[in-house]
Amino acid sequence: DRSVIYDNHGRPITYLRLSVTDRCNLRCKYCMPASGTNFLPREALLSYEELERVITILTDLGISKIRITGGEPFVRKNLIDFITTISNNKKLEKIALTTNGTLLSPYISRLQQIGITSVNLSLDTLDSDRFESITRRNQFDRVIKTFHLLKKSSIPFKINTVVMEDENIKDIIPLAELTRYNDLSVRFIEEMPFNGEGGNGSALTWTYDKILNHLKDEYPHLETIFSGPHSTSTNYKIPNYRGKLGIIAAFSRTFCGTCNRIRIDSQGTLKTCLYDSGVLNIREILRDGASDREIRTLFKHTFKQRPKDGFEAEKRRKDKLNESMSVIGG
Ligand code: GTP
Ligand code: 5AD
Ligand code: SF4
Repeated sequence: DRSVIYDNHGRPITYLRLSVTDRCNLRCKYCMPASGTNFLPREALLSYEELERVITILTDLGISKIRITGGEPFVRKNLIDFITTISNNKKLEKIALTTNGTLLSPYISRLQQIGITSVNLSLDTLDSDRFESITRRNQFDRVIKTFHLLKKSSIPFKINTVVMEDENIKDIIPLAELTRYNDLSVRFIEEMPFNGEGGNGSALTWTYDKILNHLKDEYPHLETIFSGPHSTSTNYKIPNYRGKLGIIAAFSRTFCGTCNRIRIDSQGTLKTCLYDSGVLNIREILRDGASDREIRTLFKHTFKQRPKDGFEAEKRRKDKLNESMSVIGG
């Protein structure tokens, strides 16, 4: 019943990932250098009013799900009010959030009231020392507090774990064990070369099949279960456990054929693939005084030029991949 735009490969465009800030209070090794990135000045970010306008245009074009990302989204002031405002948009069926959990505790009950669809919590380890090694910050206790509050709440949530050879292999099974008594999903993610240093220092040794074999060694009866039509993760269940496991082949890019996503990064750049370098400078277009109609036309045009997958997107780039995930939002 709703009009939806299909891209040049026949995929519906229904999901916007919106990075509201490039700043973060952690310094995860897979995401940025120890020194951080050159954080954007405030004027470079789209204001909440600008974002609301763009969201209205996009929901008119068929976007029905938004995931708010960062940096760490809650580093941006008044984020909860922005989420509340967009939750009044009747065309938005799902509003989700990806967060490191360090600043979330005070907002959980409001998010529940708003009816947030889901929260994805980044948690790479259950060990405080390894947490500090990976994130270069000592904030483990705050994340665990958030984890327990989320468990008590009615908000559906998933745990995101980036798998890294020298950091958290020991954590894979203990994290999987969280699904024994809890109705949550724990997803293991292939590391991508978005650490802000051109991927230097990271080497993808833990591919999705290696992660799967590791899980199968421990859980020989692991069952494959249904994954949604546009899911990034392949999902599994350990028999008699309450929760689910997932593996995200983020670097191998096995799920592009059903990709329904576009992104607006923290600089106000539209990306039609995580691996492209940006196809439209929305900030400039808005500030040059474009009308809603003109903006709609530009969006529609770019949706018809999407690369078929993340490999083609990478090939089309003039520059090398060297972004920090905190700018793109994942
Ligand atoms: P939902 O399906 O809405 O739960 O989102 P998600 O699981 O895709 O999003 P989340 O922000 O939790 O990201 C989990 C991991 O998947 C991160 O490492 C993301 O960078 C990665 N990811 C998300 N979307 C894409 C995508 O379109 N392509 C690739 N290659 N990786 C993605
Ligand atoms: N590779 C894979 N996943 C990453 N994330 C951040 N950087 C990377 C990377 N280089 C994940 C975070 C967060 C999600 C948005 O992306 O752990 O959960
Ligand atoms: Fe979509 Fe690009 Fe991700 Fe593939 S790599 S799923 S095309 S965003």
